[in-house]
Amino acid sequence: MLALLESIRPGDPDRELALALDPERLPSHIAIIMDGNGRWARQRSLPRAAGHKAGVDPVRMSVECCAQMRLRALTLYAFSVENWKRPRAEVETLWRLLRFYLHRELPLLQENNIRLNALGRIDALPGIVRDDLEECCLRTSRNTGMNLNLAINYGGRAELVDAFNRILDRARLDGTLGRLTIDEETISNSLYTRGMPDPDLLIRTSGEMRVSNFLLWQIAYAELYVTDTLWPDFRRSHLLRAILDYQKRDRRFGGLTGSPEAAEERLVEVAGVPEA
Ligand code: IPE
Ligand code: IPE
Ligand code: MG
Repeated sequence: MLALLESIRPGDPDRELALALDPERLPSHIAIIMDGNGRWARQRSLPRAAGHKAGVDPVRMSVECCAQMRLRALTLYAFSVENWKRPRAEVETLWRLLRFYLHRELPLLQENNIRLNALGRIDALPGIVRDDLEECCLRTSRNTGMNLNLAINYGGRAELVDAFNRILDRARLDGTLGRLTIDEETISNSLYTRGMPDPDLLIRTSGEMRVSNFLLWQIAYAELYVTDTLWPDFRRSHLLRAILDYQKRDRRFGGLTGSPEAAEERLVEVAGVPEA
């Protein structure tokens, strides 16, 4: 938190927001569906590519800000398995921008001790993109600070399919296929996000109330925050407001709020209903 405060200039209204945060109740993992680049461009009569380009700086801001807050993980949805349906020129622009981002940001990742991970079917990416991505992941693999997960050619269902196939392959290899049993831990440990906490907060920009095949397993109990702000307009103040909103939520995970005693007090007899 100190690092975040130090990075905010005196007089900047973000300072108030940062000071209002409870450092004890920060999310461990934030996931973001970065949406609205196309609409941002259309509003300005620009080509969609201009929207994607304008979306690079908010990525830098989010990474820096989350690292300063010492989050364990930040997961950014950059390209879905369904995004191949877009015109080829747009897809190529996205690959160019990804490579530009990786080259420009590697020093920032190293300085901030951030470890880059790619989530998705990376093998299907154009060779040059995959090479750059793998190199960046490798070069940051010894970093021990925040995990920056870029979801690229990612689909939540594809991830589950890959996880089940991985479980089957492992069992075949160990000769344990005949007595294979699967529990939640087996699945969690076979996902692209294995070893990471589930997202506490899922942010989606540009107002769409859907999850678009993102982290389907991991967001079981994530708090959802949707803002109308388009991704290229997403600033630190928006991110801090999302976290402040998250801190006001009552996360019950299916239980009740408060102490077990308080919960006990609520056990009252319901007239006409026989005891279990
Ligand atoms: C998000 O912006 C970026 C990607 C999906 C790659 P969009 O390109 O989806 O922007 P809209 O939703 O058309 O405005
Ligand atoms: C989700 O946005 C994917 C990314 C942000 C990479 P989309 O724009 O592809 O999602 P839909 O089509 O609105 O559901
Ligand atoms: Mg979109």
